[in-house]
Amino acid sequence: MSPSSADERHAAEIAYWNGSAGERWVSRQESQDSLLAPAAQVLLARAAARCGEFVLDVGCGWGALSVELARRVAPGGRVLGVDVSEPMLSRARELRPSGLPLDFVRADAAAHPFEPGAADLLFSRFGVMFFGDPVRAFANMRRGLRRGARVVFACWREPRENPWLMLPLQEAYRHVPRLPEVGPEDPGAFSFASESRVRGILEHAGFDAIGLEAVALSLDLATGRGLENAVGTAVGIGPTSRALEGQPDALRSAATAAIREELARHLSGDRVPLPGSIWIVTATNLRAG
Ligand SMILES: C[S@@+](CC[C@H](N)C(=O)[O-])C[C@H]1O[C@@H](n2cnc3c(N)ncnc32)[C@H](O)[C@@H]1O
Repeated sequence: MSPSSADERHAAEIAYWNGSAGERWVSRQESQDSLLAPAAQVLLARAAARCGEFVLDVGCGWGALSVELARRVAPGGRVLGVDVSEPMLSRARELRPSGLPLDFVRADAAAHPFEPGAADLLFSRFGVMFFGDPVRAFANMRRGLRRGARVVFACWREPRENPWLMLPLQEAYRHVPRLPEVGPEDPGAFSFASESRVRGILEHAGFDAIGLEAVALSLDLATGRGLENAVGTAVGIGPTSRALEGQPDALRSAATAAIREELARHLSGDRVPLPGSIWIVTATNLRAG
């Protein structure tokens, strides 16, 4: 674990999502939605949101899944998309179709005063791995859930199970310096990769009936639009984009060329499918308060 405190790491993530990362994600919105569609499909099926329910979508980003959830709970239900990033939420407000029971709030889910005991479902796609103190964050979110409410979220499994992210990074490392070592419990994409850690966090935050289901995915980096689109995705998001940020043009170009060469080996028609793996995490709030 890095020497900084949990509060410092938490603040660094909030700054990151409000700065370069938020802007970069928003610029790749359509491509990201297609890329992550396989995860959305399985997660929405497991969440099984029903007409009339109140759903919290935590770390909702531009709200692609908040909209899907709002369609499922209408009429009578509602969705609150919560995100700490202004760039992400401005896009959410632009994309939001009218007539759906859907609101967005810019807030830190670890500290936001949720309406106590109100929500039926705490939902997230890849939005809960960035808390400096995840037990405190989940305990805070639990206070917003009614007794019997369920938790359903997706997070990434180990890096070695996710070549779609790690293959480009390994190629980038031939040309740019390695990112500072990240502890397995430091906030970030892989901070919920350990099953025992996720169970411990949810138990300590007061949840019961905790389950983790490993789901293997095939993620098309090209989203059906050929090699250059795959290269754009590989360098535009995740750890590879962090590694390339601020590097001299010559090194960035060399890294991008190496990534292109590697991805070309996986090209199949206009697709570049690579394996990924997620946990679908489920839990229940059996306690009051
Ligand atoms: C990987 S993105 C996922 C976005 C969206 N759920 C999706 O699947 O497209 C992670 C999101 O979590 C948000 N986030 C990070 N820390 C947060 C916090 N403490 N409170 C609320 N949102 C947070 C980020 O701003 C970002 O939008």
